[in-house]
Amino acid sequence: MNETHPSIPVYLVTGGAGFIGANFVLRMRQSNQAKIINLDKLTYAGNPQTLASLGDDPDHQLVRGDIGNSELVAHLLDKYQPDAIVNFAAESHVDRSILNPGEFIQTNVVGTLNLLQTTRAYWERLTGDKKERFRFLHVSTDEVYGSLSPTDPAFREDTPYAPNSPYAASKASSDHLVRAYFHTYGMPVLTTNCSNNYGPYQFPEKLIPLIILNALQGKPLPVYGDGQNVRDWLYVTDHCDAIALVLNKGKLGETYNIGGINEKTNITVVQTICEILDKLSPKEGLDRKSLITYVTDRLGHDRRYAIDCNKIDRELGWKPKESFETGLEQTVKWYLANPEWVEAVQSGAYQTWINQNYGDR
Ligand code: NAD
Ligand code: DAU
Repeated sequence: MNETHPSIPVYLVTGGAGFIGANFVLRMRQSNQAKIINLDKLTYAGNPQTLASLGDDPDHQLVRGDIGNSELVAHLLDKYQPDAIVNFAAESHVDRSILNPGEFIQTNVVGTLNLLQTTRAYWERLTGDKKERFRFLHVSTDEVYGSLSPTDPAFREDTPYAPNSPYAASKASSDHLVRAYFHTYGMPVLTTNCSNNYGPYQFPEKLIPLIILNALQGKPLPVYGDGQNVRDWLYVTDHCDAIALVLNKGKLGETYNIGGINEKTNITVVQTICEILDKLSPKEGLDRKSLITYVTDRLGHDRRYAIDCNKIDRELGWKPKESFETGLEQTVKWYLANPEWVEAVQSGAYQTWINQNYGDR
């Protein structure tokens, strides 16, 4: 670690080679807000290439490892003495959790428990100001609240948990553990529950990048069920800014909902991507909307998510900055401009997943 900026805090970021974690790390380093120890297992979803622009930045260390490895986490805490931990590490894809829930329990529940337990031992040994300022921020999802009907009010922080997929159940479980560490041990924790993110570096198993890349390649655009499921979409850097704000100003033990105030049906999202691509990268004789293919629905598919993010606005002054129109166009442009990144993530393992999830639909 570079000692030239002693006043900058040190964060242990977990899952910082994944989509949101890497965007957060890049933002923290570009603005020199924090030195980063980046602990990532580098599963199929973790990609060091996403962090390539950091070059040999001495204030960013990528360590390959598991949040469930207490010995490794204890060693990193001891060596780098972080001021905060930001926990992004997780298995994050709902469809994968339906096919293989075990991984989700292992990382999202057992892994988070181990991370909490190791952090507690570290935090209890801290003294004075360092102990006072220490924070553990857990990054979670709106999916823990379950599914809404078209007329239900949006999820608030006091909406009861009702997770419906193995993924959501594993995240809900980790949220409860984080809460328990505040109430039982007084650990200085914060939790954020955010809606669907989109933007650069998202792995193309998720709706938006999958549709962009399939549409570019003239492949079918799979829409689950009737395409009328609703998600709230937030541009990833807005999420990163909200996390940084909660970390610095959030009230200990509290949870903060984060959302884009931007509900869209899936079919609208897919059609809008087709329109943007037909404008930015037209292919003679191809109207990309003709590629839209309705396929068998996701099991237990939640109908609608919506986030009431008034609390973080009122208490911390955060609002999303990017509109869906500009954010989506920027995202499409990013995928068009970064074919090497795309090629690298669409490896053999990616093809296996595509066959497994879409083969029989
Ligand atoms: P992602 O799947 O792109 O990245 C997850 C990262 O965690 C990967 O780099 C992976 O290698 C790493 N990882 C997995 N298991 C690990 C382990 N045991 N130890 C260390 N690292 C491990 O996920 P994402 O979309 O960036 O999501 C990040 C976090 O934000 C997750 O906790 C997710 O639940 C939450 N979240 C995501 C969204 C979204 O729309 N993507 C919305 C709200 C909340
Ligand atoms: O709400 C926050 C959550 O958003 C995060 O916690 C998750 O980590 C993240 O993966 C995301 O979950 P979703 O299941 O909402 O995202 P996904 O991109 O997988 O799907 C978005 C919607 O699009 C959903 O209703 C399912 C649908 N879909 C998805 C795929 C991959 C399709 O219609 N076709 C597809 O091929």
